[in-house]
Amino acid sequence: MAHVIDFSGKRALVTGGASGIGYGIAVALAEAGAEVTITARSEESLAACETKTPYGELEAVRLDVADDKAIDTLLEDFGDLDFLVNSAGTIVRAGGEYEIAKFQHVMDINLTGTLRMCHACLPKLAMRRGAVVNIASMMSYFAAPHAPAYGASKTAIVSLTRSLAVAWAEHHVRINAIAPGWIDTKLARPALEDPDRGPKIMARLPMKRWGTPADMGGTAVFLCSPDAAYLTGVTIPVDGGYSAM
Ligand SMILES: NC(=O)c1ccc[n+]([C@@H]2O[C@H](COP(=O)([O-])OP(=O)(O)OC[C@H]3O[C@@H](n4cnc5c(N)ncnc54)[C@H](OP(=O)(O)O)[C@@H]3O)[C@@H](O)[C@H]2O)c1
Repeated sequence: MAHVIDFSGKRALVTGGASGIGYGIAVALAEAGAEVTITARSEESLAACETKTPYGELEAVRLDVADDKAIDTLLEDFGDLDFLVNSAGTIVRAGGEYEIAKFQHVMDINLTGTLRMCHACLPKLAMRRGAVVNIASMMSYFAAPHAPAYGASKTAIVSLTRSLAVAWAEHHVRINAIAPGWIDTKLARPALEDPDRGPKIMARLPMKRWGTPADMGGTAVFLCSPDAAYLTGVTIPVDGGYSAM
Protein backbone atom coordinates (compact mmCIF):
# COMPACT_ATOMS: atom_id res chain seq x y z
CA MET A 1 0.00 0.00 0.00
CA ALA A 2 1.36 3.43 -0.90
CA HIS A 3 2.01 5.74 2.04
CA VAL A 4 0.95 9.22 1.04
CA ILE A 5 1.52 11.94 3.61
CA ASP A 6 -1.09 14.66 3.34
CA PHE A 7 -1.05 17.41 5.95
CA SER A 8 -3.97 19.35 4.45
CA GLY A 9 -5.89 20.98 7.31
CA LYS A 10 -2.89 20.65 9.66
CA ARG A 11 -1.14 23.59 11.28
CA ALA A 12 2.57 23.72 12.18
CA LEU A 13 4.72 26.09 14.22
CA VAL A 14 8.48 26.08 13.56
CA THR A 15 10.69 28.11 15.91
CA GLY A 16 13.90 29.31 14.31
CA GLY A 17 12.08 28.66 11.05
CA ALA A 18 13.19 31.77 9.19
CA SER A 19 16.54 30.26 8.28
CA GLY A 20 18.61 27.10 8.11
CA ILE A 21 17.25 23.78 9.34
CA GLY A 22 13.98 25.27 10.61
CA TYR A 23 13.30 26.81 7.21
CA GLY A 24 14.09 23.54 5.42
CA ILE A 25 11.62 21.74 7.67
CA ALA A 26 8.99 24.49 7.31
CA VAL A 27 9.10 24.23 3.52
CA ALA A 28 8.84 20.42 3.68
CA LEU A 29 5.80 20.64 5.98
CA ALA A 30 4.21 23.16 3.60
CA GLU A 31 4.95 20.87 0.66
CA ALA A 32 3.07 18.11 2.51
CA GLY A 33 0.09 20.47 2.74
CA ALA A 34 0.39 21.99 6.23
CA GLU A 35 -0.21 25.64 7.02
CA VAL A 36 3.09 26.75 8.55
CA THR A 37 4.07 29.59 10.89
CA ILE A 38 7.78 30.27 11.27
CA THR A 39 9.46 32.34 13.94
CA ALA A 40 12.81 34.08 14.37
CA ARG A 41 14.24 36.17 17.17
CA SER A 42 15.22 39.14 14.99
CA GLU A 43 13.31 41.33 12.54
CA GLU A 44 16.34 41.12 10.23
CA SER A 45 16.04 37.35 9.91
CA LEU A 46 12.31 37.59 9.28
CA ALA A 47 12.84 40.30 6.66
CA ALA A 48 15.53 38.22 4.91
CA CYS A 49 13.34 35.11 4.82
CA GLU A 50 11.60 34.05 1.59
CA THR A 51 8.11 33.38 2.92
CA LYS A 52 6.60 32.68 -0.48
CA THR A 53 7.18 29.01 -1.36
CA PRO A 54 5.89 26.90 -4.26
CA TYR A 55 3.59 25.31 -1.67
CA GLY A 56 2.04 28.47 -0.27
CA GLU A 57 3.06 31.35 1.93
CA LEU A 58 4.67 30.83 5.34
CA GLU A 59 3.38 33.07 8.09
CA ALA A 60 6.38 34.74 9.75
CA VAL A 61 6.37 36.15 13.28
CA ARG A 62 8.97 37.40 15.73
CA LEU A 63 9.46 35.28 18.84
CA ASP A 64 12.16 35.01 21.47
CA VAL A 65 11.91 31.50 22.93
CA ALA A 66 13.42 32.84 26.17
CA ASP A 67 10.37 35.10 26.65
CA ASP A 68 7.46 33.29 28.36
CA LYS A 69 5.09 36.23 27.92
CA ALA A 70 5.79 36.50 24.19
CA ILE A 71 5.13 32.76 23.79
CA ASP A 72 1.80 33.04 25.63
CA THR A 73 0.81 36.06 23.52
CA LEU A 74 1.62 34.24 20.28
CA LEU A 75 -0.38 31.17 21.29
CA GLU A 76 -3.41 33.13 22.56
CA ASP A 77 -4.51 33.94 19.01
CA PHE A 78 -2.95 30.97 17.27
CA GLY A 79 -5.89 28.60 16.83
CA ASP A 80 -5.29 24.89 16.32
CA LEU A 81 -1.79 23.40 16.40
CA ASP A 82 -0.85 19.95 15.09
CA PHE A 83 2.96 20.09 14.89
CA LEU A 84 5.62 21.95 16.85
CA VAL A 85 9.21 21.99 15.58
CA ASN A 86 11.78 23.44 17.99
CA SER A 87 14.64 24.59 15.78
CA ALA A 88 15.56 27.86 17.54
CA GLY A 89 19.13 27.54 18.74
CA THR A 90 22.32 29.42 19.38
CA ILE A 91 26.01 28.88 20.10
CA VAL A 92 28.84 31.03 21.49
CA ARG A 93 32.08 29.95 19.89
CA ALA A 94 35.76 29.95 20.89
CA GLY A 95 35.26 28.91 24.50
CA GLY A 96 32.94 31.83 25.35
CA GLU A 97 30.43 29.45 26.91
CA TYR A 98 32.79 28.77 29.83
CA GLU A 99 31.56 32.16 31.12
CA ILE A 100 28.61 31.36 33.38
CA ALA A 101 26.35 34.08 31.97
CA LYS A 102 26.93 32.85 28.42
CA PHE A 103 26.53 29.22 29.47
CA GLN A 104 23.18 30.06 31.02
CA HIS A 105 22.11 32.11 27.99
CA VAL A 106 22.75 29.21 25.59
CA MET A 107 21.01 26.72 27.89
CA ASP A 108 18.06 29.09 28.25
CA ILE A 109 17.50 29.22 24.50
CA ASN A 110 18.47 25.72 23.35
CA LEU A 111 17.14 23.65 26.24
CA THR A 112 14.75 25.68 28.37
CA GLY A 113 13.38 27.39 25.24
CA THR A 114 12.47 23.96 23.86
CA LEU A 115 10.74 22.99 27.12
CA ARG A 116 8.96 26.38 27.25
CA MET A 117 7.56 25.86 23.77
CA CYS A 118 6.56 22.24 24.42
CA HIS A 119 4.90 23.15 27.68
CA ALA A 120 3.03 26.16 26.28
CA CYS A 121 1.85 24.23 23.21
CA LEU A 122 0.82 21.04 25.03
CA PRO A 123 -2.89 21.92 25.46
CA LYS A 124 -3.27 22.71 21.74
CA LEU A 125 -1.22 19.68 20.66
CA ALA A 126 -3.23 17.41 22.96
CA MET A 127 -6.49 18.64 21.39
CA ARG A 128 -5.20 17.52 17.98
CA ARG A 129 -3.17 14.44 19.04
CA GLY A 130 -0.18 16.29 17.64
CA ALA A 131 3.55 15.78 17.37
CA VAL A 132 6.73 17.60 18.39
CA VAL A 133 10.08 17.49 16.62
CA ASN A 134 13.03 18.76 18.66
CA ILE A 135 16.44 19.50 17.16
CA ALA A 136 19.37 17.81 18.88
CA SER A 137 22.85 17.55 17.31
CA MET A 138 25.92 15.38 16.81
CA MET A 139 27.05 17.30 19.90
CA SER A 140 24.38 15.38 21.81
CA TYR A 141 26.84 12.47 21.58
CA PHE A 142 30.30 13.97 21.06
CA ALA A 143 32.35 16.35 23.22
CA ALA A 144 32.02 20.05 22.44
CA PRO A 145 35.16 21.42 24.12
CA HIS A 146 34.82 24.84 22.47
CA ALA A 147 31.09 25.14 23.19
CA PRO A 148 30.26 23.26 26.42
CA ALA A 149 26.82 24.81 26.87
CA TYR A 150 25.86 23.98 23.31
CA GLY A 151 26.96 20.37 23.84
CA ALA A 152 25.22 20.08 27.22
CA SER A 153 22.02 21.63 25.86
CA LYS A 154 21.95 19.24 22.91
CA THR A 155 22.65 16.16 25.05
CA ALA A 156 19.83 17.30 27.31
CA ILE A 157 17.48 17.63 24.32
CA VAL A 158 17.78 13.84 23.81
CA SER A 159 16.85 13.29 27.46
CA LEU A 160 14.08 15.91 27.44
CA THR A 161 12.62 14.30 24.32
CA ARG A 162 12.47 10.92 26.08
CA SER A 163 11.04 12.38 29.29
CA LEU A 164 8.29 14.39 27.59
CA ALA A 165 7.45 11.46 25.32
CA VAL A 166 6.77 9.29 28.37
CA ALA A 167 5.10 12.04 30.41
CA TRP A 168 2.80 13.17 27.61
CA ALA A 169 1.95 9.85 25.96
CA GLU A 170 -1.28 9.93 27.94
CA HIS A 171 -2.14 13.16 26.11
CA HIS A 172 -1.55 11.40 22.76
CA VAL A 173 1.26 13.83 21.88
CA ARG A 174 4.34 12.21 20.33
CA ILE A 175 7.72 13.83 20.87
CA ASN A 176 10.82 12.89 18.86
CA ALA A 177 14.03 14.58 17.83
CA ILE A 178 16.38 14.84 14.88
CA ALA A 179 20.14 14.98 15.48
CA PRO A 180 21.46 16.76 12.38
CA GLY A 181 25.05 16.24 11.33
CA TRP A 182 26.98 19.07 9.70
CA ILE A 183 24.42 21.19 7.90
CA ASP A 184 25.34 24.25 5.85
CA THR A 185 23.58 27.07 7.73
CA LYS A 186 24.63 30.42 9.17
CA LEU A 187 25.09 28.74 12.59
CA ALA A 188 27.52 26.10 11.29
CA ARG A 189 29.24 28.04 8.52
CA PRO A 190 32.13 29.24 10.73
CA ALA A 191 33.12 25.56 11.19
CA LEU A 192 32.61 24.81 7.50
CA GLU A 193 34.81 27.76 6.52
CA ASP A 194 37.47 27.17 9.19
CA PRO A 195 40.62 26.17 7.25
CA ASP A 196 41.62 23.71 9.97
CA ARG A 197 38.24 22.30 11.04
CA GLY A 198 36.37 22.29 7.73
CA PRO A 199 38.61 19.72 5.98
CA LYS A 200 38.76 17.51 9.09
CA ILE A 201 34.96 17.36 9.23
CA MET A 202 34.78 16.53 5.52
CA ALA A 203 37.43 13.80 5.90
CA ARG A 204 35.26 12.05 8.49
CA LEU A 205 32.01 12.44 6.57
CA PRO A 206 31.18 9.17 4.75
CA MET A 207 28.86 10.87 2.26
CA LYS A 208 31.51 13.52 1.49
CA ARG A 209 29.17 16.47 1.50
CA TRP A 210 27.71 18.79 4.10
CA GLY A 211 23.98 18.39 4.63
CA THR A 212 21.47 20.98 3.50
CA PRO A 213 18.42 22.26 5.41
CA ALA A 214 16.27 20.44 2.83
CA ASP A 215 17.93 17.15 3.90
CA MET A 216 16.19 17.54 7.30
CA GLY A 217 12.69 18.02 5.86
CA GLY A 218 11.78 14.43 5.01
CA THR A 219 12.60 13.07 8.46
CA ALA A 220 10.63 15.85 10.16
CA VAL A 221 7.61 15.22 7.91
CA PHE A 222 7.85 11.49 8.64
CA LEU A 223 8.04 12.09 12.41
CA CYS A 224 4.89 14.23 12.27
CA SER A 225 3.03 11.80 10.02
CA PRO A 226 0.74 8.84 10.76
CA ASP A 227 3.57 6.61 9.49
CA ALA A 228 5.32 7.43 12.80
CA ALA A 229 2.17 6.83 14.88
CA TYR A 230 3.95 4.35 17.19
CA LEU A 231 7.21 6.31 17.41
CA THR A 232 7.90 8.52 20.40
CA GLY A 233 10.91 9.45 22.53
CA VAL A 234 13.55 8.74 19.87
CA THR A 235 16.29 10.88 18.38
CA ILE A 236 17.16 10.11 14.76
CA PRO A 237 20.60 11.11 13.45
CA VAL A 238 20.37 12.66 9.98
CA ASP A 239 24.05 13.16 9.38
CA GLY A 240 25.38 11.58 6.18
CA GLY A 241 26.85 8.77 8.29
CA TYR A 242 28.98 11.06 10.48
CA SER A 243 27.96 9.36 13.74
CA ALA A 244 28.42 5.92 12.20
CA MET A 245 32.17 6.48 11.77
N1 LIG B 1 23.77 23.61 11.23
C1 LIG B 1 24.18 22.51 11.82
O1 LIG B 1 25.18 21.89 11.42
C2 LIG B 1 23.43 22.00 13.00
C3 LIG B 1 23.74 20.73 13.47
C4 LIG B 1 23.05 20.20 14.54
C5 LIG B 1 22.04 20.95 15.14
N2 LIG B 1 21.75 22.19 14.66
C6 LIG B 1 20.66 22.91 15.33
O2 LIG B 1 19.70 23.27 14.37
C7 LIG B 1 18.94 24.37 14.88
C8 LIG B 1 18.84 25.42 13.80
O3 LIG B 1 20.13 25.96 13.55
P1 LIG B 1 20.64 26.27 12.09
O4 LIG B 1 21.89 25.55 11.90
O5 LIG B 1 19.55 26.10 11.14
O6 LIG B 1 21.08 27.81 12.21
P2 LIG B 1 20.29 29.17 11.96
O7 LIG B 1 19.95 29.31 10.53
O8 LIG B 1 21.16 30.21 12.58
O9 LIG B 1 18.93 29.02 12.77
C9 LIG B 1 18.85 29.33 14.12
C10 LIG B 1 17.52 29.97 14.34
O10 LIG B 1 17.28 30.11 15.75
C11 LIG B 1 16.78 31.40 15.97
N3 LIG B 1 17.03 31.84 17.32
C12 LIG B 1 18.21 32.03 17.95
N4 LIG B 1 18.00 32.46 19.20
C13 LIG B 1 16.66 32.54 19.37
C14 LIG B 1 15.81 32.92 20.41
N5 LIG B 1 16.27 33.37 21.61
N6 LIG B 1 14.46 32.88 20.23
C15 LIG B 1 13.98 32.48 19.05
N7 LIG B 1 14.71 32.11 18.00
C16 LIG B 1 16.05 32.14 18.17
C17 LIG B 1 17.48 32.27 14.95
O11 LIG B 1 16.77 33.49 14.80
P3 LIG B 1 17.64 34.81 14.38
O12 LIG B 1 18.15 34.51 13.01
O13 LIG B 1 16.65 35.89 14.43
O14 LIG B 1 18.73 34.93 15.41
C18 LIG B 1 17.42 31.37 13.74
O15 LIG B 1 16.15 31.49 13.10
C19 LIG B 1 19.65 24.84 16.14
O16 LIG B 1 19.00 24.31 17.26
C20 LIG B 1 21.03 24.20 16.01
O17 LIG B 1 21.61 23.99 17.25
C21 LIG B 1 22.42 22.74 13.64
